[in-house]
Amino acid sequence: MGYNVAIDGPAGAGKSTIAKLVAKEKGYIYVDTGAMYRALAVHFLKKGLSPEDTDAIIEACADAQVGIAYEKGVQQVYLNQENVTSILRTEEVGNMASRTSPIPEVREKLLELQRSLAREQDVIMDGRDIGTHILPHADVKVYLTASVETRAKRRYAELTEKGISCDYEEIAKDIAARDARDMNRETAPLCQAADAVLIDSSDMTIPQVVEEIIRLCR
Ligand code: DC
Repeated sequence: MGYNVAIDGPAGAGKSTIAKLVAKEKGYIYVDTGAMYRALAVHFLKKGLSPEDTDAIIEACADAQVGIAYEKGVQQVYLNQENVTSILRTEEVGNMASRTSPIPEVREKLLELQRSLAREQDVIMDGRDIGTHILPHADVKVYLTASVETRAKRRYAELTEKGISCDYEEIAKDIAARDARDMNRETAPLCQAADAVLIDSSDMTIPQVVEEIIRLCR
């Protein structure tokens, strides 16, 4: 069994940024489970499916093969042998992932892949249900959050920096809607595990959060 660090929390809390830095510092493999849901979302979008058509989504899971590989320590996600990493982070894919990830069959499809990665090596894995469901015996569990306002400001700055024009209010609305979907779904809703350490990064710098998590690790 590898050493397992689970980081859960809402969208935009900085989980991946923080987890990558902790992974580098501690020599863990960083596993981004959101990217796996996004890869399945790409599959559903390619088939032109609506997220409301649950039966079609479940059926489509049968011919989706999601795989993970690491190139120079960076996670690469494969969908049916095609590297889809570069197209995972669009709003369209994110919305499809958010709407289809509540479906139990979609979650079941990725469960064993996530558990097997953690069995074989030391990992820091981020997602929504890692500490509560995927790795209930993780050595360290963190629930990383930040206010909607902070997360919207960060996202706004990120997009503006890339030269993408955007509306702050729209972003904040989108983040709140995604929180509601992730927290209120029936299957594996986003919530803090009873034994997870809560870190609210609203008024913290990235190095401060990294340091706090490293202090929790062996
Ligand atoms: O973390 P992210 O934005 O890349 O995740 C995309 C979507 O996948 C998000 O709306 C919630 C879902 N997700 C999930 O249900 N469980 C996980 N372990 C990771 C992500």
